[in-house]
Amino acid sequence: METKRIRLRSDSIIQDKELQEAAALLRQGEVVAFPTETVYGLGANALDSEACAKIYAVKGRPSDNPLIVHVAALDEAQQLVRVWPPQAEVCARNFWPGPLTLVLPKRAHIPEIVSGGLDTVAVRMPSHPVALALIEAAGCPLAAPSANISGKPSPTNAEHVWRDLKGKIPLLIDAGSCTVGLESTVLDLTGELPTILRPGGITLEQLQAVLGKVELDRSADHGQPTVEPRSPGMKYRHYAPEGEIILFSGSTSEKAEKMTKYLRNKNNAVRTAVLCLEETVARLTGDTAGKADMIFTLGSRNNLDSAASRLFEGLRLCDEQNIDTILAEEIAEEGIGLAFMNRLKKAAGKKNFGPGSRYPNLTETKEENTWN
Ligand code: TXA
Ligand code: MG
Repeated sequence: METKRIRLRSDSIIQDKELQEAAALLRQGEVVAFPTETVYGLGANALDSEACAKIYAVKGRPSDNPLIVHVAALDEAQQLVRVWPPQAEVCARNFWPGPLTLVLPKRAHIPEIVSGGLDTVAVRMPSHPVALALIEAAGCPLAAPSANISGKPSPTNAEHVWRDLKGKIPLLIDAGSCTVGLESTVLDLTGELPTILRPGGITLEQLQAVLGKVELDRSADHGQPTVEPRSPGMKYRHYAPEGEIILFSGSTSEKAEKMTKYLRNKNNAVRTAVLCLEETVARLTGDTAGKADMIFTLGSRNNLDSAASRLFEGLRLCDEQNIDTILAEEIAEEGIGLAFMNRLKKAAGKKNFGPGSRYPNLTETKEENTWN
């Protein structure tokens, strides 16, 4: 299949002929890759199970991992669910459109394939103007996972999608880089307490400020092996680069010191990358920075939102550069740092918590499955 790639600017989309073409494809039961503020999505008509089946086929995604349904209006979301609790109203009012997904009891007309056989559906209103315009033009809610091959980091620009899905989908809408760069927060509102199943673009602290007590699902953290995940996707290993990740913790100077030591002693045949904040890179001493085959700077520790938005790009670049070992620094698990560390630890696959780790005794847990 030939993949058409169109470039849409956020400010002139509504009347766009090509946007209409994308919407027509969606109405015909095709899949289309499109930008959101978090990551690129691979969309299909959420009410058409055959169209949604194509998403799983293209991505190579396990069928028990449900999809998020994207809407452009509040009443569209309400039509997908059996109950719209006050907490949903509060969340929608404060964070929609935006990087927050709400899990609620689903209505019967939502296909099994979308909900992965669960009794619930995940709903989100993205804030990207192209995503909103596309949903409106298509005239139906769009089921959309991240537009990557399962097991790869989510795509944060159109080039990432192109490399993963070229030849497999009819159309890719290119609108440049995603601003958030990590996926949405998945919040389960079906239990007694609102529970974060996947940390993401809306932080725990932001949710607590409007909802009061909010739980963090333990399996959403780093995949506690004994806990059955409530969000099916969390049980699969994902965002995995080819190389091993070694995490470094401590203060900026401690992290830099340990990395310096590691780089000094490293085997030159092992291609090694440093994935760090600029303050840490600046403290690598002597000629050690030169011993790294690649240095990817995430930006300043004073702008962790920006660091988060670059994480997946950095991980992808490591693969492109055939990196064997990635030295990555931990950041505090607060604010966007919670989602950042969640993705980084998952990418590390819990198998290589080396020097400086807070988890020196964690043994390898090999998870063959990949997702997303
Ligand atoms: O930012 C995002 O959320 C992006 C963009 C495209 O919107 N989408 C995304 O979708 O990350 P995906 O499929 O890669 O991740 C969806 C997550 C998975 O962890 C899945 O298990 C969970 O949401 N999920 C979906 N439906 C669910 C449900 N009914 N109950 C619990 N978890 C659900
Ligand atoms: Mg995904």
